[in-house]
Amino acid sequence: MVARLDMKMALSGREITQPKLTHGFVILPFNNSMERELAEMVFLCYKGHGDLEFLQERTTVEGCLALVRKEIVERKMLAPLIIMQGEKFCGFTWAALHDGKHYVSEVGVVPEFRGKGLGRALLAKIVAEIAALGAKEVYLGVSAPNEDAAHLYKSFGFEVIREWDTKDLKKKK
Ligand SMILES: CC(C)(COP(=O)(O)OP(=O)(O)OC[C@H]1O[C@@H](n2cnc3c(N)ncnc32)[C@H](O)[C@@H]1OP(=O)(O)O)[C@@H](O)C(=O)NCCC(=O)NCCS
Repeated sequence: MVARLDMKMALSGREITQPKLTHGFVILPFNNSMERELAEMVFLCYKGHGDLEFLQERTTVEGCLALVRKEIVERKMLAPLIIMQGEKFCGFTWAALHDGKHYVSEVGVVPEFRGKGLGRALLAKIVAEIAALGAKEVYLGVSAPNEDAAHLYKSFGFEVIREWDTKDLKKKK
């Protein structure tokens, strides 16, 4: 059974259109004073999520806080991006560099704000920031059953470069 998809998008010569945000939504760079709010968003995004089996640290806010600190301290490539509406924290994204490849590591929108184009706006912004670093390609991974996310990535321009079977993933661990 296909468990995970690796995806890639070429950046050379591609213009990354930024969707227009309405209703007071703004995308801001993360700063350290937002650490707990980011962790709470990660927690809310993964509550009851099909990937939790593999993402045990996300079952508690404290686990998410440890993850956020680890990601931000260890992966200083780009500041995460946060999407807000007034005082409300609505979603986030962050990127990472692994083996010389630029990855979109995370895109999350808290459930009450989903389906409003925020995930697409965050993706467009982080991909544009990765392109501005001079990257020729951008990569990401998504679990195969996560159809909302896979749909978003494919419709944005990512293509599947590898399908991981459940047993391949066990070997990889
Ligand atoms: C994936 C996620 C970030 C999408 O955020 P969102 O703000 O709802 O996404 P958008 O409103 O920008 O929609 C993007 C696309 O996804 C599709 N989509 C969003 N929600 C959907 C749903 N419930 N069912 C089917 N498609 C959906 C939309 O159709 C849209 O495509 P379109 O523009 O062609 O219509 C959000 O569902 C989420 O946070 N999921 C949990 C965390 C997660 O799994 N992140 C990805 C890890 S790899």
